[in-house]
Amino acid sequence: MSVLQVKDKLFEPYLTAEEINGQVQRLAAEINRDYEGKKPLFIAILNGSFMFASDLFKAIHIDAEICFIKLASYKGTKSTGQVITAIGLDTDIHDRHVIIVEDIVDTGKTLHEFLPQLHHQQPASLELAVLLHKPDATRFPVPLKYLGFSIPDKFVLGYGLDYDGLGRNIPEIYQLKENH
Ligand code: XMP
Ligand code: MG
Repeated sequence: MSVLQVKDKLFEPYLTAEEINGQVQRLAAEINRDYEGKKPLFIAILNGSFMFASDLFKAIHIDAEICFIKLASYKGTKSTGQVITAIGLDTDIHDRHVIIVEDIVDTGKTLHEFLPQLHHQQPASLELAVLLHKPDATRFPVPLKYLGFSIPDKFVLGYGLDYDGLGRNIPEIYQLKENH
């Protein structure tokens, strides 16, 4: 892994595929243990979480379902502060054990706005499985039950995360190189 250019920005290696996989397997093992017999419903938030959701779900060995919604708030490397529901929820979550799967919590605004909509439908339980969290950027705290990594407040890409649509296919996670 070496420095990577995507459009006008340089990124440096941050997390290897092995490191990511280690945390994904650990989270899956915890969920397998905590949700035995509960048939949880995973709700993965597109686009960014598709790779994390896929790897996590493959490591779930209890009965479980998955569905997808699409929320968006980012443009380039900055949050627009406005959360748009591009594809909504088509599954009844009443009395279900729901696990939201999200790539990253940055300001926390996306989940802070979305979680009350889900609570309103009275799931049996509602928890978050999040790969990355930027605690220094978080303005809207959300309860992160299953967390992969706490990371510095720097833009990241790879493993499903993009810069202006590019970089989602990279198996590792890169961090924006500042001041070049
Ligand atoms: P908030 O601020 O609502 O942001 O917690 C969550 C959403 O913003 C995207 N996001 C990023 N995407 N690199 C990305 O590629 C980042 O560093 C980054 N930070 C936030 C992401 O879609 C997430 O769901
Ligand atoms: Mg996302």
